[in-house]
Amino acid sequence: MPTDQELRAYVPPSGLLDGRVILVTGASGGLGGALARACARLGARVALGGRNVRKLEAVYDAIVAAGGPRPSIAPLDFERADATHYDALAEAIGREFGRLDGLVHSAAIVGERAPLDHYDVPTWLKVMHVNVTAPFIVTRTLLPLLRASEDASVVFATSGVTVRRHAYWGAYAVSKSALEGLAGVLAEECEGTTAIRVNSVNPGPMRTPMRARAFPGEDPATLPMPEQVLAPFLYLLGPAGRGISGRRYDAQ
Ligand SMILES: NC(=O)c1ccc[n+]([C@@H]2O[C@H](COP(=O)([O-])OP(=O)(O)OC[C@H]3O[C@@H](n4cnc5c(N)ncnc54)[C@H](OP(=O)(O)O)[C@@H]3O)[C@@H](O)[C@H]2O)c1
Repeated sequence: MPTDQELRAYVPPSGLLDGRVILVTGASGGLGGALARACARLGARVALGGRNVRKLEAVYDAIVAAGGPRPSIAPLDFERADATHYDALAEAIGREFGRLDGLVHSAAIVGERAPLDHYDVPTWLKVMHVNVTAPFIVTRTLLPLLRASEDASVVFATSGVTVRRHAYWGAYAVSKSALEGLAGVLAEECEGTTAIRVNSVNPGPMRTPMRARAFPGEDPATLPMPEQVLAPFLYLLGPAGRGISGRRYDAQ
C-alpha cells in the first residue's frame, strides 16, 4: 500500500481522469471547488454538488473558461433535502452519464466550538446530519451508479480531529469519526463483490471559509491553498488508486 508521503508527492499526469464521471459534494467550497476544477482539468466530467446554485455556477464557469469538459450542476441542500431530492440527484446523473466513477464527499459544516456541557442540541443534530447522515444517504442512493462503473472510487474528506480528539470540537469531531466509520463499513462491504474502493483523506488545515470560521483570529496567509493538498484525492480517484480501499490518508 502506498504511504501518505507517496500520495502527497503524486503528480497527476494530464488526461488522468479522461472520460471519468465524478460527483464532488461541497463543490462551492474551498476544497470541493479546487478539486472539481482539478478533476475537470484532468479530463473528468464533474457533477458539482452544493446548496448554492449561484456559487456552483461560478465553479462551472471557471471550468468551462479553462477549457474543461462541460460540468453539470447538482443542487442539493442537505438540511432541506428529502428522499425525492436524493433520488432526483441519482436520476439526473444516471440519465446524463449512466454511471458514476468517482464520488468525493467534501461538504461539511463546523457547527460551534463549545464544551459538551454547553453544546447546543439543534446544532449537534444539524452537524451530524450534514456531515454524516447526508453523505450516507448520498452514497447509498448512488451505489447502483457506482456499481455500474468498471472502476469506482469514493473518497470522504475527514479531519485531524479524529486522531487528536480536541476538546471543544463537539459534533464536528464526532461527525468526522463517524464518517471514517462509515467509510470503513462501506469499504468492507464493497470488497470482493464490487469494483468500488472507499477511502478517507484528511486535507489538513487549508485557507478556506470553513477554516476562517473555525479560527477567526488566524492569519489565512499562513495556510496552504486547497489546490496544494489535492494530490492524494487525485491519486485515489484515478487508476493509481485501484486496489486501495479502507485506508485513511493525511494530505499534509
Ligand atoms: N478547511 C480546513 O482547514 C479543513 C481541515 C480538515 C478537514 N477539512 C474538511 O475538508 C472538507 C472541505 O472543507 P472546506 O474547508 O472546503 O469547507 P468550506 O469551504 O466551508 O466548504 C464546505 C462546503 O460544504 C457545503 N455545505 C455546507 N452545508 C451544506 C448543506 N447543508 N448542504 C449541502 N452542502 C453544504 C458548502 O456550501 P456553501 O458554499 O453553500 O456554504 C461548501 O460547498 C470538509 O469536509 C472539512 O471538514 C477542512
